[in-house]
Amino acid sequence: MGKRVVVVGTQWGDEGKGKITDYLANKADVVVRSQGGNNAGHTIFFNDNKYALHLIPSGVFNPNIKNIMANGMVINPKALIQELEELKQKGITDFKLYISNRAHVVMPYHIELDELFETLKGEDAVGTTKKGIGPAYSDKVSRIGIRIGDLLKKETLKAKIDTSVRFANILFKSQNKKLFDSEAIYQEFVQIGEVLKPYVCDTSKLLNDEIDSGKNILFEGAQGTMLCIEHGTYPYVTSSSPTAASIPLNTGIAPTLITDVFGVTKAYTTRVGGGVFATEFEDETARRIRTIGHEYGTTTKRPRRIGWLDMVVLKHVKRINGLTGIGVMLLDVLTGIEYLKICTGYLLNGEEIDYVPAEYEDYRNCLPIYEVYPGWTEDITQVKSFEELPENCQNYLKAIEHHLGVKVTLFSVGPDRNQTVTLNTIF
Ligand code: GDP
Ligand code: IMO
Ligand code: MG
Repeated sequence: MGKRVVVVGTQWGDEGKGKITDYLANKADVVVRSQGGNNAGHTIFFNDNKYALHLIPSGVFNPNIKNIMANGMVINPKALIQELEELKQKGITDFKLYISNRAHVVMPYHIELDELFETLKGEDAVGTTKKGIGPAYSDKVSRIGIRIGDLLKKETLKAKIDTSVRFANILFKSQNKKLFDSEAIYQEFVQIGEVLKPYVCDTSKLLNDEIDSGKNILFEGAQGTMLCIEHGTYPYVTSSSPTAASIPLNTGIAPTLITDVFGVTKAYTTRVGGGVFATEFEDETARRIRTIGHEYGTTTKRPRRIGWLDMVVLKHVKRINGLTGIGVMLLDVLTGIEYLKICTGYLLNGEEIDYVPAEYEDYRNCLPIYEVYPGWTEDITQVKSFEELPENCQNYLKAIEHHLGVKVTLFSVGPDRNQTVTLNTIF
């Protein structure tokens, strides 16, 4: 019987999920993206080539893998077509891609609405990627969304676009903005439907058939649990749930089928966009981490905010997802830093707490309590085993394991596929 492994981001995104998905993909038969859209940016390195994926699953570099974009995603078809084109230009043409007919479409007005809402929020702006993700999910739950399958049905598509555009235009009109023309959108999206048609199917059926025949399935998370609409730092979150719990709903499999939940964490923390971040700091060391770790957004190119590793966050995320193992990424970026800090609790109004407060205002007042660990100076980028790591680096990993109570299954010492050390097999 195969395994069904979830790769979940344990922080605020950009933990290295793309790298790990690509790395684990050689043991998988199917790779599934289940939520989010092209707000994600997943970077993959191998054979001296760098690839950035936003919508397409990271199994795409292996011709034998079935890559599924499942029903929980919101897909900007123009961005998808561009991504397919970019892959083609890099010689990646031999892959299998399946798009759910139930996935929702990010329409042009969603992108404008995202921009508009952010502007109207002023200082309270979320700092979204402005890819239209929130408005696309809003239309989905308002039951006026357009689904991928709708694009293939010309006869009924026009009426659906009319309704959705009518609602969007009410908002644009109120702000004296240019209105959208639903006929023009219809004409354009009928064409787009034709382009996507060969990829569209009922992916829940496909996925369950693969599971029934004993295949290994890898679910590639996007974003991170701290950006979860339910369990993240609301309202500074994304509009979907990037948790293991969301996988069954977002892909159409039974909850009981998940076998492993693999958490991906940086050896420190980053965040892009607004919102509380208890262990954030900005000094010479933070700038060093940003430079060495290339901590600039894959999607928006924004500089990422830097902070120390936060075990309160990781424990919160462990509880919500039921982590069965973790991968510690970008360990090499910490080389050369004299002292490393790990946050083990917060001080809130003079009281020590060990959980993430639900109220945003409380979380903003939390002060981190740190343990300090001596760093290492040795180059670790070619290390192939735990034993080869400098003692202080080993101790840093042991501290993470000790505080979290979850095995470090894998660690990563560079962006390349080969710069990965597995301690316990996942597949
Ligand atoms: P994702 O969104 O979780 O897939 O992560 P991103 O790709 O947005 O960001 C992770 C960044 O870290 C990318 O630039 C990766 O190439 C890079 N990366 C991943 N693992 C390592 C590592 O172990 N060391 C270094 N130096 N870079 C890494
Ligand atoms: P990957 O998959 C990091 C952040 C945005 C913003 C908030 C809401 O690469 O880890 P949205 O556009 O989703 O409405 O923005 O969420 N965000 C991410 N941050 N990595 C991501 O994806 C992100 N996707 C969204 O910066 O703070
Ligand atoms: Mg990313």
